[in-house]
Amino acid sequence: MSRGLFITFEGIDNSGKSVQVERFAGRLKESQVVVLRDPGATAISEKIRHILLDNDNYEMSAWTELLLYEAARAQMVEQLIKPALAKQSIVVCDRFYDSTTTYQGYGRGLNLKLVKQANKIGACGLTPDLTFIIDVEPEIALQRSRKNKTKADRLESEGIQFQNRVRQGYLKIADEEKERIVVVNGHLSVEEIHKNIWDIFLQRIGNPF
Ligand code: TMP
Repeated sequence: MSRGLFITFEGIDNSGKSVQVERFAGRLKESQVVVLRDPGATAISEKIRHILLDNDNYEMSAWTELLLYEAARAQMVEQLIKPALAKQSIVVCDRFYDSTTTYQGYGRGLNLKLVKQANKIGACGLTPDLTFIIDVEPEIALQRSRKNKTKADRLESEGIQFQNRVRQGYLKIADEEKERIVVVNGHLSVEEIHKNIWDIFLQRIGNPF
């Protein structure tokens, strides 16, 4: 293996993906796994995350939003992901550039070609080895967030139609990149979803132990 593995998890807001990241990483040896979230994970990227999700920043233009996501990501890739992969670690990331394609491209309606070019810069040329999309209907995801009673951040406040466009975007990119992206039914129980993800991981990548 010339470098470690890079696995990403994707989905609309409240799709249950973060729970799956935890469950998946928990199955791996602590010494071999690095768990990150995008935007975030480094001090600089967490500061950018705060700007991005702050409801007070309602004036932010979609292009500024795009560039801030890319900036946060570039810092995480250079500071954490590339060094971890060089040490043969398994990097598990909660979101990566597919979120930018779906949220800023399909959700906000920015030019997809430009979004994809920006993604190349933000990811510093890195592509995940395997990506899981936890697919959930936006109405179900909304019910979950109401149940958890979490205050919606700037992106979550965009509403059901926005989430629907994001979901359709995810299904589209999964169709375009079948080698890398797997769609998992997110309406099942946490345990069932985890089992499906783990089985796919073993099939596609093999046993990491
Ligand atoms: P999180 O809730 O999964 O932590 O992600 C934060 C929010 O940022 C979520 O609403 C999705 C959004 N987002 C984008 O709009 N574009 C991106 O490139 C990324 C990584 C996240």
